[in-house]
Amino acid sequence: MKEQLEKIKAEALAQIELADALEKLNDIRVAYLGKKGQLTSVLKSMKDVAPEDRPKVGQMVNEARELIEAKLEETKNTLARKAREEQMKNEVIDVTLPSRKANIGHSHPNMIAQKEVERIFVGMGYEVVEGPEVEYDEYNFEKLNIPANHPAKDEQDTFYINKEIVLRTQTSPVQARVMEQGKLPIRMIAPGRVFRSDEVDATHSPSFHQIEGLVIDKHITFADLKGTLAEFAKELFGEDTKVNFRPHHFPFTEPSAEVDVSCFKCGGKGCRFCKGSGWIEILGCGMVHPHVLEMCGIDPEAYTGFAFGVGLERIALLKYEIDDMRLLYENDIRFLRQF
Ligand code: DAH
Repeated sequence: MKEQLEKIKAEALAQIELADALEKLNDIRVAYLGKKGQLTSVLKSMKDVAPEDRPKVGQMVNEARELIEAKLEETKNTLARKAREEQMKNEVIDVTLPSRKANIGHSHPNMIAQKEVERIFVGMGYEVVEGPEVEYDEYNFEKLNIPANHPAKDEQDTFYINKEIVLRTQTSPVQARVMEQGKLPIRMIAPGRVFRSDEVDATHSPSFHQIEGLVIDKHITFADLKGTLAEFAKELFGEDTKVNFRPHHFPFTEPSAEVDVSCFKCGGKGCRFCKGSGWIEILGCGMVHPHVLEMCGIDPEAYTGFAFGVGLERIALLKYEIDDMRLLYENDIRFLRQF
């Protein structure tokens, strides 16, 4: 029994010594220490050993097992270390290679134009505020002097959620919301998304963006409105830009005007860009109607103000010379990267 054990031990150790891969070590473990392994079978034949010799043989088997296990462990570590060293040698990392770039997007022309408009007005002391896209009919129409059955309501052919709630058709309701808060004076712009049931074409979309402006204070006159928008146009389109005010009608302003800027392409001589007229229409504006002030809790005897509304897409299309509005909504990164 003793010789048999010695033989098993010697063989096992010799085989471990020769093993050159981790999988081989495992095979050896199974062959000697596994359920059907050689050492295990010695233990199984213990019944043939004389009872008084059993403790001694048992001890010898255990010692052999421990020795084999220790050798297996040691060899496993050595092999693992060697494998790692080999891997390090082969895997050369070139730290001078350029890193893989994260695929980031690009600011949308609308957003670039909006930031530009915000920068100009914030520079003049305006605050940027927001209003809800889902709005009460009352704010979108009533408080802006557009009662039920007013033709202006037809023009804006609206998305209604129910009788009282609409997707706002203009950013003008933010005027009413800000005035109602009662903090005077007011100098604000309100950019945001608006909705109208328009067919999609090169200049229309059922969802687009506007920027509303509102100033309320004592002694505000039409001259302030003209000066402000003239300055805005210069900042946005260039120092030589002129503005032209044409009388118009909006229910919530009186008097009202539409504003054209001199064509920044031809300087006013007339070209394809301005359709030969030398002028490009950019916004609507006017003096806030006294009745609107009253409905929003402001005394029209003490305060006056002006308002204006500009289409953000219109500005983006003009400023970046984009000829089809649909391009703004496709969000093709190759298109966006140009701006
Ligand atoms: N809300 C108007 C529209 O969508 C634009 C507008 C015109 C806004 C005159 C104003 C304004 O604040 O004074 O057509």
